Amino acid sequence: MSTRKRVAILISGRGSNMQALIEATRHPGYPAKIVIVIANRPDAAGLATARNAGIEAIAIDHKQFATRMAFEARLHQSLRGADVDLICNAGFMRLLTGGFVERWRDRQLNIHPSLLPAFPGLDTHRRAIDSGVQITGCSVHFVRLEMDAGPLIAQAAVPVLPGDTPESLGARVLKAEHQLYPHALQLVASGKARVVNESVVHDPISGRCPQLIWPPLGTL
Ligand code: GRF
Repeated sequence: MSTRKRVAILISGRGSNMQALIEATRHPGYPAKIVIVIANRPDAAGLATARNAGIEAIAIDHKQFATRMAFEARLHQSLRGADVDLICNAGFMRLLTGGFVERWRDRQLNIHPSLLPAFPGLDTHRRAIDSGVQITGCSVHFVRLEMDAGPLIAQAAVPVLPGDTPESLGARVLKAEHQLYPHALQLVASGKARVVNESVVHDPISGRCPQLIWPPLGTL
């Protein structure tokens, strides 16, 4: 019997982080496998990408449900049906209620394109540029009721360069996201990262810093 954690990915659109996770889980020895991809929008491009990769992918259109809770009940049913251990939100643009968040507490991850707690919410790259920060990045964290908040699992730092636009900075951060999310999922699925007193403890640390700087210093 496989001991790999069974993972669902929730998407709303393009699904490039989903694709990075799918590719990572193909490596022998990776401690997780993707068993289902669920989009809350039937037109999410990532659904076709997942199906082409041989992964079950379904749409649960939130607009077809009268309440958030009704949508989440259906979502939960599909997750249970696929015997899911962990959820990875990857560009999933739907706020979740406390009931759902608590059901999946410490088993639901999210990626956000900033160094949280800086710049939660939308339009992160424009806000980073406008603020004058010289380093931004991305974060993977456990989901809590508050949007883009929760125990941080791993972060990657990315420089803001002179002349950056939200698009150029976003593209640089996205490359880091594709490295970071598989790394963070590996830490959680293998049991090397877990929540203690609302912080993530990495075990064993063994001199290796779980945080990344990407692209590596010296390559720019
Ligand atoms: C990513 O930048 C992610 O951090 C944010 O939404 C974007 C989704 O992109 N939450 P993709 O669908 O994974 O390509």
